Amino acid sequence: MTARLAVALLGCGGIGARHADAVAKLPAVMHLVACCGREIEKTAAFAARYGAKPFVDFDRMLEMTQPDLLIVALPPFAHQGQVEAAARAGVNLLVEKPIALTMERAEAQVAAARDVVASCGFMYRHGAATRAWDAASARGESGTAGHFSAQFHSNALHAPWWRERDKAGGQMVEQLIHLIDLARHTLGMPQTVYARAANLYHRDVERYDTEDVSAIILGYDDGRIGVLHASNAAVPGKWAKQWQVVARRMTGQFTDWNNADFFATGSQAAPLKIRDERDVFVAQLGDLAEAIRLRRPPLVPLADGAASLKIALAARQSADERREIAL
Ligand SMILES: NC(=O)c1ccc[n+]([C@@H]2O[C@H](COP(=O)([O-])OP(=O)(O)OC[C@H]3O[C@@H](n4cnc5c(N)ncnc54)[C@H](O)[C@@H]3O)[C@@H](O)[C@H]2O)c1
Repeated sequence: MTARLAVALLGCGGIGARHADAVAKLPAVMHLVACCGREIEKTAAFAARYGAKPFVDFDRMLEMTQPDLLIVALPPFAHQGQVEAAARAGVNLLVEKPIALTMERAEAQVAAARDVVASCGFMYRHGAATRAWDAASARGESGTAGHFSAQFHSNALHAPWWRERDKAGGQMVEQLIHLIDLARHTLGMPQTVYARAANLYHRDVERYDTEDVSAIILGYDDGRIGVLHASNAAVPGKWAKQWQVVARRMTGQFTDWNNADFFATGSQAAPLKIRDERDVFVAQLGDLAEAIRLRRPPLVPLADGAASLKIALAARQSADERREIAL
């Protein structure tokens, strides 16, 4: 029998808890041994919920526990070489998006992690509907995807760091990046990025200096198009995240990562309905565990975190400079 993977967690906030819960749902495969936060009391309380050992010193956690897998759930601004240090110590990685706020740091992480199994937390890619589309595409059923459109509309103040562009990157970099990643995964890397963005509704909220409305066009020299839009001023408590792929022989309308209708182009037949309730955080960890065991690449390599960040940063630059950016 293979030994269970020892998992350590860096960052014990909202998504850190989501990952810890997901680890607990795979007791035969992995277990949480340690977690690292900034405040000892809060971290100890968090660790106690999962039977893990609390740390406030990341290097000490690595040294003392030598985990098989480190989940990095830090806010973007807090990335200061921890991913690189863990990779150099031979620790496999799951790094939350956005993996960094600059391409320099993102590329340094990818380079440092070349000899470990390293994944980016784009969990939309693990959904049943997303995987079904990928499978149909791989079988040649969909034909070439020519148009990808997506939206991400919320209305929440989020954590204080989230509102500050220097700390979080802005809504395009911090949230819409999930859908930018799906666009890139579906259509490939665009040749150009054009975006508009503004803070329309939160100028009087202290330290809220990021955009709350945005739109992005991804351009491809052969004519294919990606279009994404977002806001943080829509229906409070609702997170409207839908997307559509129009391909030569098939159109996929996704209401979320587990649910979609696939329509065959030119046919009146009822669509293929994908309906599923899988926990994508558990699926993500299951994939990683298998990748570590078989030494195969994970479904979402860390390099995808860098590639999609490149598009998000180009969108931000485009909006700032009001011009199209060539990648
Ligand atoms: N995959 C998703 O859908 C999803 C959802 C939410 C957040 N995220 C991402 O996860 C990351 C964290 O977001 P969150 O919502 O959990 O934030 P959060 O503010 O709820 O939690 C972040 C935690 O990290 C801790 N922290 C900050 N600096 C630290 C340091 N140097 N060492 C140890 N701990 C430190 C904070 O004290 C806090 O507990 C962000 O990059 C965010 O984009 C992803």
